[in-house]
Amino acid sequence: MLRVKQFRNYPFLELAPSPGITVLYGPNGSGKTNLLEAMHLLSLGRSHRTPTDREMIAQGEMSAVIHGQTIRSDGKHDIEVRLFQQEKPQKKVLLYGKPAQRIADMMGHATVVMFSPEDIRIVRDGPAARRRFVDMQLSQIRPGYLQVLRTYLTVLENRNTLLKQDKLGMVSDFSAELDIWDEQLAAAAAPLVKNRRWFLDQLSKTAAEEYASIAENPGEPFALEYVGPLAKADDPIARMLDGLRRSRDEDRRRQHTTFGPHRDDIALMLYGRDLRAMGSQGQLRTAVLSMKLGEIRLIQDEMGEPPALLLDDVFSELDVKRRSALLRSTQGIQTLITCTDRQDAADARADQFLRVSEGADGAAKVEAE
Ligand SMILES: Nc1ncnc2c1ncn2[C@@H]1O[C@H](COP(=O)(O)OP(=O)(O)O)[C@@H](O)[C@H]1O
Ligand SMILES: [Mg+2]
Repeated sequence: MLRVKQFRNYPFLELAPSPGITVLYGPNGSGKTNLLEAMHLLSLGRSHRTPTDREMIAQGEMSAVIHGQTIRSDGKHDIEVRLFQQEKPQKKVLLYGKPAQRIADMMGHATVVMFSPEDIRIVRDGPAARRRFVDMQLSQIRPGYLQVLRTYLTVLENRNTLLKQDKLGMVSDFSAELDIWDEQLAAAAAPLVKNRRWFLDQLSKTAAEEYASIAENPGEPFALEYVGPLAKADDPIARMLDGLRRSRDEDRRRQHTTFGPHRDDIALMLYGRDLRAMGSQGQLRTAVLSMKLGEIRLIQDEMGEPPALLLDDVFSELDVKRRSALLRSTQGIQTLITCTDRQDAADARADQFLRVSEGADGAAKVEAE
């Protein structure tokens, strides 16, 4: 069950998607992606398309409410996110009606894997896009991960602040203070790297199997490789301390930390070569799709039940083979599919068709057939 208030172009909406496949169809700009975005927000604490939470509050309103209930093998889960235009914090999370201590606590109550045309940015954009992919997926599977990441980023920020203050001549015992941050940053980096390493090892296996089933040439060996200063370190803490010490002069000059897992990346390898450098468009698309399909299997394996699938406008871009690989993965899984034309999802064997439209007043409407 999904209920939203003053969310994007929905003044109010309550929706109970089928446990099977639901198709949401309607013209461009009517509010289809907005609904998937609301579900993504409930699962991962953030939108899949904007880092600015306030953007999701309906124009002219001061707050938005997004409330969802999911039924999982261990019972009913109840999650609510409230967004505020001016209050601090601008985002509040409630679990079973009670304020959550931390945003991280909401992880794992509802899991989703979203497929959208923007997925290609995982290969097209810089390392930050790939780190975001890893961090978001990992925090769903390992609810404690988000806290690990936040701790690292907080210490990193403190270290960077010290480097800036040093430049302004505000620090009396710079080396001693930096030593303290180095210790803390190394301690925070170790669990971060351990989690990412584990995740990429697992995802590499499942994604490779998916890739092999879609690829033009059967058996093309696809793999994900963790790239980063500590990616292969036996002792990440020692390696981190060493790296920080070596880059200290440069960090001091540049006033920020140049060494560490905040610069991690993933390499997408085919036949042992980096796909991003030499892959065709088709291979890159297959790689991204395989990573997402692999993610479904990984969530299923780790959490004992599959995620909900959100397929946003993806069919029009896929060829027959990729499309059928995607549809195969929806079997027995709660899935929401958006498309402009009802016909686009004809082969999805949907249980429910919902028509989305935007009224003259700009408010979105969802009607069952
Ligand atoms: N904060 C907001 N307040 C009101 N309307 C919004 C807001 N953000 C986006 N919209 C409206 O939502 C619509 C786009 O919705 P979207 O779900 O992306 O469309 P689509 O059906 O093409 O996926 C547009 O009409 C846009 O004006
Ligand atoms: Mg859309």
